[in-house]
Amino acid sequence: MKSFKDKVAVITGAGSGIGRYLSILLAKDGANIVVCDVNEDTLNETIEMLSQYNVSVSSHVLDVANKGDIEALPGKVIEHYGKIDLVFNNAGVATGGHFKDLDEEYWDWVMGVNLHGVVNSTRAFIPHMIDRPEAAIINTSSIFGMVAAPGHTVYHATKFAVRGFTEGLALEMAVTNPNLQIHCVHPGHIGTNIASSAKMSEETINTVIEERNNLNFTRNNPTSLEEIGIQFKDGGMHPSKAANIILNGVRKNKSRILVGLDAKLLDLSQRLFPKHYHKTWILFMPLMLLFRDKKPLKSLD
Ligand SMILES: NC(=O)c1ccc[n+]([C@@H]2O[C@H](COP(=O)([O-])OP(=O)(O)OC[C@H]3O[C@@H](n4cnc5c(N)ncnc54)[C@H](O)[C@@H]3O)[C@@H](O)[C@H]2O)c1
Repeated sequence: MKSFKDKVAVITGAGSGIGRYLSILLAKDGANIVVCDVNEDTLNETIEMLSQYNVSVSSHVLDVANKGDIEALPGKVIEHYGKIDLVFNNAGVATGGHFKDLDEEYWDWVMGVNLHGVVNSTRAFIPHMIDRPEAAIINTSSIFGMVAAPGHTVYHATKFAVRGFTEGLALEMAVTNPNLQIHCVHPGHIGTNIASSAKMSEETINTVIEERNNLNFTRNNPTSLEEIGIQFKDGGMHPSKAANIILNGVRKNKSRILVGLDAKLLDLSQRLFPKHYHKTWILFMPLMLLFRDKKPLKSLD
C-alpha cells in the first residue's frame, strides 16, 4: 500500500503510546481515523491532538477483550465510512512476576487483551476487507514474541501466539487474497505507558522491584511500580518513531516489522543461537542502550 490518503484506518489502543502516534501519522498522511480505546479520557486526548488535521475522526470506547464490543465494531465503521482499509490491532497490556506467583486473574486479563482481542478483531474485520482493492491488517506482537526472558510468561504466551497466528494468516491470504496485506509488528523497548499500566498483586510488585534492583538495571533503583513505569517510559524509543517505522513497513508490504535496534539484535541472537540466545544479551546490552532513539519524530515538530 503506497499511500494512506483517503483510506479508513481503525486503530485499537489509540489512547496512548504507539497507537496514539499511529493515529496522528496516519491523519497527517490524509487517512480518516477510527480510534478505539478502553480509556475514554486518554482517547479524548488523542482526538484533541487529531483535530489539527483535515481528516474525519470517529471514536469508540471499547474493550478489545470483549467479543461483543469487537464484533459490533466493523458494522459501525462501515455505517459511517462505507469501507475499511486498515486495521491496527495494537491494544496491549502487561503484568509481571514469575508464573508460579502469577494470579490467574492477571493471566486471563493479558490473554484476553493481547491474544483474544487480536484474533477476534481480525475475525470480525476480514469479511469487510478481503474484497477491497488494497487493505492491510497489522497485528502487534513484540520482540518478546521471538525471544523469552524470565518474569513475562503470559506476555510471551500472547505475543508468540500473535506471531504464529499472524504468520499463518499471511500465508493463507497470500494464496487466496493477496490484496489484503497481513503484517506482524515486533517492537523492542518503546517508551510508553505500558509498564505503568501493568497490573499485578502488591506481593508481586515487591518481588519485581527486588529482582530489578539486584540486576542493577538503572542508576536509580525504583521503589514502586510507578517509578518502574517512569523509568521504562524514559528509557525507550519515542513512540512516534516506532509508529513511523510501522507505517513504513506497511507501505513497503513487509510482513514482519521489527521496531528498533534492540528488536533487530534480539532477533539476530535467536537466529544465531536458538537455544542459548539469552547468554549473548550481555554483549548486545551496551549497543542497545547507546542507540535508543528517544527523541520524537522530527516531522511532528
Ligand atoms: N512499549 C513497548 O516497549 C512495547 C514492546 C513490544 C510490544 N509492545 C506492544 O505495543 C502495543 C502498544 O503498546 P504501548 O507500548 O503503546 O502501550 P500503552 O500502554 O502506551 O498503550 C496501550 C493502549 O491500549 C489500551 N488498552 C489496554 N487494554 C485495552 C482493552 N482491553 N481494550 C482497548 N484498549 C485497551 C490502553 O488504554 C492504552 O491506551 C501493545 O500491543 C504492546 O504489547 C510494546
